Amino acid sequence: MFCKRITVLFALLFSLTLVGCSGKTVEESKTLKSTFANHNLKAGTCVSGAMISDEEQRQVLLDNFSSITMENVMKPEAILDKNKSIETGEIAVEFNDEALSILEFAKENNLSMRGHTLVWYSQTPSWIFYEDFDESKNLVTRDEMLERMETFIRKTFGLIDELGYTDLFYAYDVVNEAVMEDGRMRDCLWKDTIGDDYVWYAFYYANKYAPESIDLYYNDYNEQLKTSALIRFAETLVDENGNYLVDGIGLQAHLYTQDSLITYFKTFDKLSAAGFKVEITELDVGLGSWNNPLEPTEENLKKQGDFYCALLKEVFKRVDEGTLNMDAVTFWGFMDTASWRSEYHPLLFDDTLSPKIAYDRIVNDLYDVAE
Ligand code: GLA
Repeated sequence: MFCKRITVLFALLFSLTLVGCSGKTVEESKTLKSTFANHNLKAGTCVSGAMISDEEQRQVLLDNFSSITMENVMKPEAILDKNKSIETGEIAVEFNDEALSILEFAKENNLSMRGHTLVWYSQTPSWIFYEDFDESKNLVTRDEMLERMETFIRKTFGLIDELGYTDLFYAYDVVNEAVMEDGRMRDCLWKDTIGDDYVWYAFYYANKYAPESIDLYYNDYNEQLKTSALIRFAETLVDENGNYLVDGIGLQAHLYTQDSLITYFKTFDKLSAAGFKVEITELDVGLGSWNNPLEPTEENLKKQGDFYCALLKEVFKRVDEGTLNMDAVTFWGFMDTASWRSEYHPLLFDDTLSPKIAYDRIVNDLYDVAE
């Protein structure tokens, strides 16, 4: 009798362990964020207001991700306020309702945030570069533009703090996409007004106004094709004592299943050897190649699973061994239809929000730390 009771008790305890307090089975609790957490990494995604107001998408997001990046609403064109700048005579920064609701959503749900982005050639209004914020007038002088840049950066970090959200942020993309594959600086109005050292100033001001707790990133694409140029460039971003003004290099990782992973791993190793933190900031792996998108057949989706798995396996291995200093891997969304590259079916959930082969491969093959 006693034995029988003990057996029943053990059976009960065993099934409670399997089912867990949340009512989920152990198998179900293998999500992206628990898999990444096993390797001390945050799992991130970009978000829009539409994603968090749709109940199903919100649930997928909360189940799978521990970090978010705003897809658009913290970009310069969304936060620089023209009327207020004209009215006050200096650069004005405001967050719109969508940005505010995402910040609040992050706070309520304990999600960390990557800030994206301050100084960029794209999605940046041209009026900020002209006298009196009027594009029919002349471009402002270098000194005036430096003052505007400083005001922009000071007010952005100031507003985040004033609203009580500073603690959510662990990383910020201070400058996006300034370097070309051949190492030259990309032409843009920041460069035209300030000169080639505009990136140095952006990091100088960000260091001045961002709290220590936020890592400052230079973020770029085609990183595997311009790794040496990126390193040479980032090494010029130092203060008067020779300390890096940049904490890390953000790798956008807009990849294709036909890309070379060997080349990609070399990028990790070269950046790590140069002493930089690295983050994957906008990961998506399109089917095929840039000029040859493939259909989402079983075979192609399996290849995508292999690619994601091989990439993340090497990331996890390096992070686990301590040879890659990385806090997070951020995907550029999670549902194929909502992707900016939807024709390549690059994300982990299909159009009906069902996990794809790549998702299953990641959580099943990479959940455990390798022996
Ligand atoms: C770049 C930017 C992102 C986003 C994508 C396209 O990678 O850094 O913010 O605009 O392009 O969606």
